[in-house]
Amino acid sequence: MDVDRLCELAVATAHEAGSMLAEERAGGGPEVVQTKSSPTDIVTQMDRAAERLIVDRIRAERPGDGFLGEEGGAHEGSTGVRWVIDPIDGTVNYLYDLPDWAVSIAAQIDGETVVGVVDIPRRGETYVAVRGQGARLRAAEPGVSPDPEARTPRVNTGVPLNRALVGTGFGYGADRRAHQAGVLTGVLPRVRDIRRSGSCCVDMCSVAAGRLDAYYERGVQAWDIAAGTLIVEEAGGRVGGLRGAAPGPELTIAAAPGLFEELHDLLLPLDPARD
Ligand code: IPD
Ligand code: CA
Ligand code: CA
Ligand code: CA
Repeated sequence: MDVDRLCELAVATAHEAGSMLAEERAGGGPEVVQTKSSPTDIVTQMDRAAERLIVDRIRAERPGDGFLGEEGGAHEGSTGVRWVIDPIDGTVNYLYDLPDWAVSIAAQIDGETVVGVVDIPRRGETYVAVRGQGARLRAAEPGVSPDPEARTPRVNTGVPLNRALVGTGFGYGADRRAHQAGVLTGVLPRVRDIRRSGSCCVDMCSVAAGRLDAYYERGVQAWDIAAGTLIVEEAGGRVGGLRGAAPGPELTIAAAPGLFEELHDLLLPLDPARD
């Protein structure tokens, strides 16, 4: 399997979708076409259009691959390669024209993520990770091809919990909000401060780049975290769930080793297993 080609395809496709989304957004706000778990959990026509574009581009080159996309569901493939796609991570930011939204594309081979790409058009940044080859941050003006000059993101190390800037998110669903607030009251007094960007994969890239020290969230799905997890890991961080579990809906924590364990141990008695 040519992993470098999978990476090139993911970068080109994420960038094309990101540019299309930025251009459409500049022309006016998107239309909310559906709500999911609650009236505030929205889907716009642009979420769907971006996912269609991404799947079409990848299928044109790799017709046998499988897909898991937030808006398109799961399609089994025959090649062992599966693409995990969040066409807009941060749909509410996109709706309000706040800059932190991204296109997230991961390529998995036999279930293992080997490529992760997060394109953040309004920051002019593309984060790219290939398993075993490190993570890169490619800066570009919005709408312009990323500069080949790549920076190497690294997680912040040696930061104790009480000095950590911690990102988090609050998955949609009215029934979850009180619990999320309860967990937050246990975390906020113990850390430097909290940030809520509104995009899980932007948060994970911020951890990778040292703009946040850590991130945690309950309720995230594979499409939210697949690319970001590899980017954090290849930037020297650790990503996981509770008690050694894989990251996922129960809990996802990302941070440098050391801080990861401190945050994990803080979250565990705050009962993140109850929603
Ligand atoms: C959401 C964002 C948000 C997070 C939610 C996600 P979406 O994804 O990542 O930051 O808190 O859990 O569902 O719906 O904008 O793709
Ligand atoms: Ca969504
Ligand atoms: Ca998402
Ligand atoms: Ca989404």
